[in-house]
Amino acid sequence: MKICFATNNAKKIKEVTAALPSTIQLVSLKEIGCTEEIPETTQTIEGNSEQKAMYVYQNYDTNCFADDTGLEVEALNGEPGVDSAMYADKISGSYRDSKENMKLVLKNLKEKEAEGNTNRKAQFKTVFTLVIDGKKHQFEGIIKGKIINQPTGNDGFGYDPIFIPNGYEETFAQMPLSEKNKISHRAIATRKLVAFLNELNKV
Ligand code: IMP
Repeated sequence: MKICFATNNAKKIKEVTAALPSTIQLVSLKEIGCTEEIPETTQTIEGNSEQKAMYVYQNYDTNCFADDTGLEVEALNGEPGVDSAMYADKISGSYRDSKENMKLVLKNLKEKEAEGNTNRKAQFKTVFTLVIDGKKHQFEGIIKGKIINQPTGNDGFGYDPIFIPNGYEETFAQMPLSEKNKISHRAIATRKLVAFLNELNKV
């Protein structure tokens, strides 16, 4: 089957494609003629994921799924969370800049450490929203780990250089993509999506 993945992030497309059976063919936003920025204005990861998928379904009349992802850091009360993409924008004047976002997480954790809070636990959470034949379904993927003191590694994207998943000694940005794809939040959500499509006999 053909289905649109409502993202312009080439790295996300690569990750999800690797986890899909060859019977599912991803269609890009460009291919359906969607070139505008899709609104993400709710206050939750679930809400933004749904908003993106519904926008594409309603405006382009095509089966699709969208993801929204956040890094949730325990000592920062779940921040950056739903604000992950724009975490540092207000402070640094940057726009969706991963380096600035990581810098701010590390600065805020340093401040917590100075107050005696040395908790470095964090998780990535992804929520996929699938809209198929007009019906909405959500699938969640979570990976737990910790935040290290400085960005390490050149692969991946976003917050990958500061996140080490539990049971590993390297960051997501140090491990081969094939390894990230086995364990990541997005891989978990993708497996749930594929299982669901299988049940519907859509694959
Ligand atoms: P969004 O889901 O594209 O809105 O992503 C929110 C923020 O999380 C952006 O800053 C992304 O770079 C970051 N992000 C999303 N997925 C990942 C990931 O797999 N690893 C690291 N950062 C990510």
